[in-house]
Amino acid sequence: MAPRKIIIDTDPGQDDAVAILLALGSPDDIDLLGITAVAGNVPLPLTQKNARIVCELAGRTDVKVFAGCDAPMKRKLVTAEHVHGKTGLDGPQLPDPKMPLQDQHAVDFIIETLRNEPSGTVTLCPIGPLTNIATAFERAPDIIPRVQEIVLMGGAYFEVGNITPAAEFNIYVDPEAAQIVFQSGVPLVVMPLDVTHKALTTKSRIDAFRNMGTHVGTMVAEWTDFFERFDMEKYGSEGAPLHDPCTIAYLIDPHLFSGRYINVEIETQSELTLGMTVADWWRVTGRKPNALFIGDLHAEGFYRLLTDRISRL
Ligand code: BDR
Ligand code: CA
Repeated sequence: MAPRKIIIDTDPGQDDAVAILLALGSPDDIDLLGITAVAGNVPLPLTQKNARIVCELAGRTDVKVFAGCDAPMKRKLVTAEHVHGKTGLDGPQLPDPKMPLQDQHAVDFIIETLRNEPSGTVTLCPIGPLTNIATAFERAPDIIPRVQEIVLMGGAYFEVGNITPAAEFNIYVDPEAAQIVFQSGVPLVVMPLDVTHKALTTKSRIDAFRNMGTHVGTMVAEWTDFFERFDMEKYGSEGAPLHDPCTIAYLIDPHLFSGRYINVEIETQSELTLGMTVADWWRVTGRKPNALFIGDLHAEGFYRLLTDRISRL
């Protein structure tokens, strides 16, 4: 099968960085058309820079990186330096990127790509707030039916929230954008905290990256070491969830994951539960299913895939 054409929409973030590396290490499965940066974990000037740092680390200065929206559609930006550090990619020191940022705005790139590629052949992979994707859909509704699938990281049902008691970060930052995407009618695969909290690093999993003997392997080990301390303190878990790579792993091997095709709506009104993904897991409403909401993964298989692909870089 031809590799799947995707655009990664991202706010790197250590776990975003690992997702990008997983895609770059999998050229037989993934054809990365471009990376679009959005404001999220840290402001846009840092996320677009971090995306280029990650591409350079992988020796892929040919990847096109675009800067997109610098603020959510209707709200002030909320960031997550408390998790990812001041740069968004705290941990190992990496040089400033030399590869250029593309002149085109990320939203225009998304629109142009979906119009130029044959309909139904491009998958969007958002692993940050959904601002760029929703802005593209609002500006050019003709592209919506042309999207093959959206495989995103965001939301939670059983795990409820991480940035507030009721909401997961990516959805909370731009709930209006999330609502547009969830109501778009595009086939959605959602990786909520329910599954990503099962994709935990452990000492031996991080050692597997460190022991690769490659620069990329060492960087991934150091990033996950850094990223880990926050969740270990917060949840008392053995390691940290590698949220965002779940999306790319799903595209490569969907059998590692299981979930339910259900209705998911986004709370945009209540101050208390803003950004909540109201997931009808138990199918107690008559609302129309709009998302494959993932609940579980084969964690060993996931880390085996991740280690194998990262070792190729
Ligand atoms: C999500 O928020 C970010 O901090 C991570 O990169 C991930 O995309 C997890 O809630
Ligand atoms: Ca992210």
